[in-house]
Amino acid sequence: PQVCWLSPEQTAGKQKPYMYTQGQAVLNRSFFPCFDTPSVKFTYSATVKVPEGFTAVMSATSWEKQKDNTFVFKMSQPIPSYLVALVVGDIVSADVGPRSRVWAEPCLIEAAKKEYDGVIEEFLVVGEKLFGPYVWGRYDILFMPPSFPFGGMENPCLTFVTPCLLAGDRSLVDVIIHEISHSWFGNLVTNATWGEFWLNEGFTMYAQRRISTEVYGLPYTCLEAATGRALLRQHMDATGEEHPLNKLRVVIEPGLWGVNPDDTYNETPYEKGYCFVSYLAHLVGNQSKFDAFLQAYVNRFKFQSITADDTLAFFLEYFPDLKEKGVDSIPGFEFDRWLNTPGWPPYLPDLSPGQQLMRPAEELAELWAADGLNMEAIEAVDITGWRTYQLVYFLDQVLQKSPLPEGNVKRLSKVYPKISKAQNAELRLRWCQIVLKNNLEAEYSKVKDFLCSQGKQKYTLPLYRAMWGGSEATRALAMETFSATAPQLHVNVQNYVKKILGLGGAE
Ligand code: BES
Ligand code: ZN
Repeated sequence: PQVCWLSPEQTAGKQKPYMYTQGQAVLNRSFFPCFDTPSVKFTYSATVKVPEGFTAVMSATSWEKQKDNTFVFKMSQPIPSYLVALVVGDIVSADVGPRSRVWAEPCLIEAAKKEYDGVIEEFLVVGEKLFGPYVWGRYDILFMPPSFPFGGMENPCLTFVTPCLLAGDRSLVDVIIHEISHSWFGNLVTNATWGEFWLNEGFTMYAQRRISTEVYGLPYTCLEAATGRALLRQHMDATGEEHPLNKLRVVIEPGLWGVNPDDTYNETPYEKGYCFVSYLAHLVGNQSKFDAFLQAYVNRFKFQSITADDTLAFFLEYFPDLKEKGVDSIPGFEFDRWLNTPGWPPYLPDLSPGQQLMRPAEELAELWAADGLNMEAIEAVDITGWRTYQLVYFLDQVLQKSPLPEGNVKRLSKVYPKISKAQNAELRLRWCQIVLKNNLEAEYSKVKDFLCSQGKQKYTLPLYRAMWGGSEATRALAMETFSATAPQLHVNVQNYVKKILGLGGAE
């Protein structure tokens, strides 16, 4: 399942085939013989011979093209198996910074360069200031074919990203900041088991929002974090708060009580993990002291694989006064409870600095949810200058209030073509969710078009769940869409969709 072979039709250019690998979580064992656990790290080298007209790239610190279309790669830092990655395709590159270039199919390279020219270096510099040296040499970005199942994948030296990030306005750059943050949390300090995936993702979400705060300020970062919290709410509502996957530490085991590591990819390790790290920062009570702790933590455990027990023991050792106070056992906030109890986080960081951006979106959503629309009040709100995440936040509010009174969504669609005809993937996802929840049949084709245009798991599964949980018509739409796109989807995503549609997918 790990090596994906794409036909020309499955690429952006539609001219040449393409292959890529996706190791995380436990897929690389079908790529090369390895100890396929994040607890083991190694260096590697690879010699890859490709047909004429193709280029190979890997997650490696150095590479060289030799004669006969042979590429030689070397990763000189120890990494876990899941971070070994290879792409072969008709790809070209363009510089976007002193240690960064973008890679993409020729038809996308101009858009790729334009999206990130001159912006990557600042994130790296801020990351280094906060968390210590960037040890990987280069930071390059590879834009993948549309079926790539993730927003981004932090393969060292060479992040893989979905082409959906090519929004034209850098509005989805938080994904890049996230993958850059893995350069310290995940790629340097690694979770020793997939049962503690939150150590990778929770710390990375925290680091991402620290960098974002430095570069874009606190209000904007709180707005982005609020959309993350809404995703956690949706996820817990959909699965039930008590679901065993809604613990930070999950039991990975075959059989009835255990879970497959691939199934731990949900909002809990990300957003509940973020809340736990924010809680640790709250206990410290001083941002620069906590930043210094993070840097010491990376330095202490770099190139190692660790468990949450190691992290928390180091935290208490680093702050002896907190250890003295017994902060690990404050009733209701016990570290043990954070790790082992499913459900909503006991502590939520204060996102009120984002209110100036959130409040107008909340008020506008209220107006649209009313019986008998107050068009005068609605038209008085000018959304033309809103940032993408403000619109996302607005749409999440509308979705939460849906179904709206009859006719409102149809009207909303007319009033805001910027939203209902958006090309931005985050907006398209929300619009499709609203269309489905409100049974706006006239726009069902947008759901199918969106699902045919890309195969990101976090976009695909919520829409199939919404279709399957809806009416007869939306169920038919689900079946029709799946038969059109199934062959393009990553095999894992295919199986998850089959499971939703009761088609007997894996597990
Ligand atoms: N490492 C993950 C992607 C991943 C997780 C692949 C689990 C396979 C199994 C990556 O860093 C990630 O979290 N991507 C997010 C980005 C977002 C949180 C900004 C994504 O793809 O949505
Ligand atoms: Zn991540």
